[in-house]
Amino acid sequence: MAHMHITAWALALILLIVALVMYKQGKAKPGKIVHMILRLDYLFILYTGGSLLANYFGGGDMLPEAIVKALAGLWVIISMEMILVKTSKAKPAKGAWIQLVIALLITLVLGFGRLPLGILP
Ligand code: HEM
Repeated sequence: MAHMHITAWALALILLIVALVMYKQGKAKPGKIVHMILRLDYLFILYTGGSLLANYFGGGDMLPEAIVKALAGLWVIISMEMILVKTSKAKPAKGAWIQLVIALLITLVLGFGRLPLGILP
């Protein structure tokens, strides 16, 4: 599940960049398609993250950090969506970018640094 989770959010970052480049080049239709695929991938992130989170409700003392990690992960998704919606309307997305960087830092530090599961099996 951890690997699927990593795959899901790594794919999301790639799709975010592809959709951004397309919107920036004025290719609204292909941009929209990649954006929709990214939205499906959000569901995949939510499912894998939600199932990882469920493990922490069984007991143990890491539940608070897992919850903060999950909230920060949600924030990453929200800021990615804000960046794309603003860019697709040719509006400035600076605030959303700042949020993405902050949220991504929190998720990566908590995900890789603090919580027990890492990349290794
Ligand atoms: C794009 C957004 C997200 C990013 C970049 C992200 C990143 C990460 C990373 C780096 C890890 C550690 C590697 C691993 O154990 O798999 C992780 C684990 C985890 N994520 Fe996410 N995540 C995101 C979204 C979410 C969401 C939406 C949720 C909850 C609904 C969530 C819940 C979890 C949980 C519970 C773990 C388990 C940590 C552990 O046991 O070590 N994540 N995530």
